[in-house]
Amino acid sequence: MPKRKVFVTRVIPDRGLHKILSATDATVWQDELPPPRATFLKMAHECAGLVTLLTDRVDDELFDAAPGLKVVANYAVGFDNIDVQAATRRGIPVTNTPGVLTETTADFAFTLLTAAARRVGEGRDYARAGKWKTWGPMLLMGQDLFGATLGIAGIGRIGFAVAQRGKGFSMQIIYNDAVRSERAEKELGARYVSKDELLRQSDFLSLHVPLSPDTYHYIDKQALSLMKPTAVLVNTSRGPVVDTMAIYEALKARQIFAAALDVTDPEPLPHDHPLYSLDNALIVPHIASASFETRNSMAELAADNLLAGLEGRQPPNCLNPELFRK
Ligand code: DGY
Repeated sequence: MPKRKVFVTRVIPDRGLHKILSATDATVWQDELPPPRATFLKMAHECAGLVTLLTDRVDDELFDAAPGLKVVANYAVGFDNIDVQAATRRGIPVTNTPGVLTETTADFAFTLLTAAARRVGEGRDYARAGKWKTWGPMLLMGQDLFGATLGIAGIGRIGFAVAQRGKGFSMQIIYNDAVRSERAEKELGARYVSKDELLRQSDFLSLHVPLSPDTYHYIDKQALSLMKPTAVLVNTSRGPVVDTMAIYEALKARQIFAAALDVTDPEPLPHDHPLYSLDNALIVPHIASASFETRNSMAELAADNLLAGLEGRQPPNCLNPELFRK
């Protein structure tokens, strides 16, 4: 049987790519930037499988252009780039890469939290700029983690793992979520609070809600107005969960102490965006899951999902498993 045609929209790590290249007739987009929309649609036209990234929009238009499509394997745990309902209507399984990036993403969220609290970015800039003349009793003072209150918005896998790290730093954990987490309450002594109380009480607030119409601008001007002036906000979820201009205004006015953003809206944030001019904004380019091991595991999982879908089996991480129920 001839190998099935697959389009992989970017070069992904070897462990997964190797599996895909050995088992399919795959075209891999080599550019650093995503394929232009017209190219994506054209490539999809011939394909039975797609490996997509969070920068590729997968919707009705794409499905219309891809009559032979059997599976879409997203190389990410988040899947707000995909219209899963549209895929389900057409009987196309869609998959993501949960689990393998939990600890790495939590490590990074905590890295950002610590770096913003203790002004690591500013310290680096200061030393590099030749401003370091002596030990300064008042130089670059920040916020303590020990004993502080860590707020978790969304205590799913990653939120829980961040809370565990906070516990290791002797922080008090509070959280808000649509569903209460008995596990977080039992194992970490986490306390469930309303969203307003989360905003009011958190010394550090880490966002782990998925992007949806309900969580769009979860942090807006009003939310920021409830936060402590000493608070640090960390976003490793999706950019539009935070209103960019509202956080800019709040940081500029020192309404909160600092924000560390792995994700932004828009993404990438244009290099001349005013947020970059603020000392108390730590912005990095969506790299929370970017460890060698984790990115390879994500690639392997995406490959396994893809190959299962091509063979008509239920992929291990299927987002519309109802397609396989008899
Ligand atoms: C995801 O997987 O959703 C991250 O944002 C990238 O690893």
